[in-house]
Amino acid sequence: MAVTAFVINGQKASVDVAPDTPLLWIVREHLKLAGTKFGCGTGLCGACTVHVDGRAARSCQVTASQVAGKRVTTIEGLSPKADHPLQRAWVAEQVPQCGYCQSGQIMQAADLLARNKKPTRAQIVEHMDGNLCRCGTYPRIVRAIERAAGGA
Ligand code: FES
Ligand code: FES
Repeated sequence: MAVTAFVINGQKASVDVAPDTPLLWIVREHLKLAGTKFGCGTGLCGACTVHVDGRAARSCQVTASQVAGKRVTTIEGLSPKADHPLQRAWVAEQVPQCGYCQSGQIMQAADLLARNKKPTRAQIVEHMDGNLCRCGTYPRIVRAIERAAGGA
């Protein structure tokens, strides 16, 4: 075990875990932030997507030792009032079906809009390619990202 200190959603945090503990476990089990989901555990579905130092990362593939001293943002910290343009667009487009994949989808999309405020449809599709949705909400996800980018 080793103490890992980092910043989560703007607050300092430290956890005493094995250095190879996945960030996903730390977020869900130690910090009780359950918005980030476990899907595949192997980096292949995107359900566990968070931001590490502002970039989308699969939290099941990031270890405690890799986040030491870094800034981690989960869906709970994306916007103080859950009113990020993407979150508003997600509601307007009624994107979720079962909802399980959606926090990962939004965190992945937020990474895109932070660096490209007006992505083309092709850029959106390419950026979101690794985030799976068993309910097939892909068309609404793309529309919501376009809506958020357009400020609608
Ligand atoms: S649970 Fe991390 S990518 Fe699927
Ligand atoms: S909304 Fe059900 S898995 Fe995406």
